[in-house]
Amino acid sequence: MSQNKKHQTKIDTLARKNAEALLGGGQEKINSQHKKGKLTARERIELLLDEGSFEEIGRFVMHRCKDFGLDKEYYLGDGVITGYGTVAGRLVYVFSQDFTVFGGSLSETYAEKICKIMDLAMKNGAPVIGLNDSGGARIQEGVTSLAGYADIFYRNTLASGVIPQISAIMGPCAGGAVYSPAITDFIMMVENSSYMFVTGPNVVKTVTHEEVTFEELGGASTHSTKSGVTHFACANEVECIEQLKKLLSFMPQNCEEDAPFLPYEAPASELRTALNDLIPENPNQPYDMREVIEHIIDEGSFLEIHKNFAENIVVGFARLAGRSIGIVGNQPAVLAGVLDIHSSTKAARFVRFCDSFNIPLLVLEDVPGFLPGTDQEWNAIITNGAKLLYAFCEATVPRITVITRKAYGGAYDVMNSKHIGADMNYAWPTAEIAVMGAKGAAEIIFKKEIQEAENPEAKLQEKVEEYTEKFANPYKAAHRGFIDEVIMPEQTRAKLIRAFQMLENKVVNTPKKKHGNIPL
Ligand code: HXC
Repeated sequence: MSQNKKHQTKIDTLARKNAEALLGGGQEKINSQHKKGKLTARERIELLLDEGSFEEIGRFVMHRCKDFGLDKEYYLGDGVITGYGTVAGRLVYVFSQDFTVFGGSLSETYAEKICKIMDLAMKNGAPVIGLNDSGGARIQEGVTSLAGYADIFYRNTLASGVIPQISAIMGPCAGGAVYSPAITDFIMMVENSSYMFVTGPNVVKTVTHEEVTFEELGGASTHSTKSGVTHFACANEVECIEQLKKLLSFMPQNCEEDAPFLPYEAPASELRTALNDLIPENPNQPYDMREVIEHIIDEGSFLEIHKNFAENIVVGFARLAGRSIGIVGNQPAVLAGVLDIHSSTKAARFVRFCDSFNIPLLVLEDVPGFLPGTDQEWNAIITNGAKLLYAFCEATVPRITVITRKAYGGAYDVMNSKHIGADMNYAWPTAEIAVMGAKGAAEIIFKKEIQEAENPEAKLQEKVEEYTEKFANPYKAAHRGFIDEVIMPEQTRAKLIRAFQMLENKVVNTPKKKHGNIPL
């Protein structure tokens, strides 16, 4: 064979291997994936990354298992596609589980591939995106597969707070496998084609005798409304990847960087007069905090997180004059905006993400207090409410609060008050900063006087007015300096733009410690 021919054979071998790897588990399995309405692992990567930017790592990796017939069944890449590329020009590392190969199940070598890109991501300070579609541990491999999972969990934890980690669930994700996404910063699920649970419907039936479908037990709608496990429920895979890209746009590459600024040209006026009429006359009447948000931020920039879970608090990212900010707002339109277990943990996790990645925080406050009742007390509202308190207390990013209406009781302290480290605290003239609502307060402190009055009803009214005049306003707090300025609602956007700019170089020196002990 001539030298040239020999080379040609080698080149042909490489081309053949490449073509084989690109087919994953084969055309039949690809067709079956498409029939289920799902994209393949490679198609998902293509949608996610900038065109032509993907560089694959470990395309020819194969498993080492010799048991249960696996010595006769090999697929190049071994069921996960790993590598790096760019999203909107910024570096990301990605792994995409390939259901066409052994149901996307995780082997020792498959885990090694994921760990390799996680290690690279940590060394180079860029996010890791996991596209999950897997039957879990590769059953034929036994403990080496379990070890592989643990290697990933360990890296997820080390990477937490160093680089952003996002998990998109696009198929099954069951057993211990759910714990890798759970440690990552954000989970996104696709409706009707993805599910997450620790034990599936069959085990549930055996153990608790409950009859439940896959979707009811661990589908996107369940986890986006009942459990809060997922931050996003998307109608389909394309929407899921679009949301993921939008989410990334608010984040820096790592904890040492700031989030990217979008170019912003200031208009002649930043006044938003619509805000002046948003608060109803009656303090017990609801309004939608999302409307307040929309009038403050750059038009259409709000990306709400956990939209349908614990709706009595609204959290999400937005831009303010091009700056990426995190917003936490009580929602008077749901349960009067009260703080309960779920809303506290939802907001706490969001605050900690923003603080980990240098994203300034804006708090919009209208909160009547913590939710009373045995359900809340027995399920530890004390511990869970403390999570939010702790998260705000330890946050060192620029922090601004605007009290739009109620700031009652302990919730006043918790919701980013001056006393726990907020940098600027504004109040609208409609703010009521007090231990509780005027009626409740008057009934307690003037109980005897009201009971003994000739006309108790009129007396109560008189005392309510007295209390309102004294406390149900922002001025007592402003006299003390707990509120920096009482502002007209229409000024809010302009004030916030300036204040966040003023706080741009904020530095806080915290006491040296290994790590805090957040009330888990
Ligand atoms: C090896 C697996 C597999 C697995 C699926 N396959 N799961 N191979 N290990 N865990 C293979 C199937 O044998 C089949 O191969 C192909 O993938 C597609 O699977 P189907 O069952 O045909 O697909 P579908 O009907 O869509 O069902 C998907 C599924 C089901 C619901 C995921 O396959 C399933 O229940 N798998 C087992 C899930 C499981 O119990 N995993 C272990 C969980 S414990 P062929 O060759 O026939 O196409 C765990 C512990 C992790 O993960 C602990 C970490 C700490």
